[in-house]
Amino acid sequence: IFEKVPVSMEINGKAYNLSLEPRVTLLDLLREQLNLTGTKKGCDHGQCGACTVHVNGQRINSCLTLAVMQEGKKITTIEGLAIGEQLHPVQEAFIKHDGFQCGYCTPGQIMSAVACLREGHAGSAAEIREFMSGNICRCGAYDNIVDAIMEVKQGGQTV
Ligand code: FES
Ligand code: FES
Repeated sequence: IFEKVPVSMEINGKAYNLSLEPRVTLLDLLREQLNLTGTKKGCDHGQCGACTVHVNGQRINSCLTLAVMQEGKKITTIEGLAIGEQLHPVQEAFIKHDGFQCGYCTPGQIMSAVACLREGHAGSAAEIREFMSGNICRCGAYDNIVDAIMEVKQGGQTV
């Protein structure tokens, strides 16, 4: 049994004041305590990207970071991308281009794709493949994922 630690953070625009065991990962906090199950657990050790979320705008593998390290940070998960009923442009593009099959990797792919675009790393298919290489898709939807990201880039939409 670990002593709990007070931690405050903002998740998808909502303030949370939590009391957490120091060993809890951000991924387990999201999924198991806050019921934000859009973020997926694939490998739980930094190899698949299914757990990708944004912390202060940067993409990270939430399985590799402890929740207590997020004091004062702003977290965005896949649940925080859409605005009401309006899907994020990257979500729209994934649907249009069939950027998924089983969908298990998709939340991580989309969070990574948004970051990839914001980082300016979507200049070509090759660059997208390189900067999306931390996100594994066991269904092999890579071609369509690249197409989706290319379309958002070429459309010049704000992401
Ligand atoms: Fe985090 Fe695989 S679950 S990288
Ligand atoms: Fe199935 Fe990517 S769509 S793992």
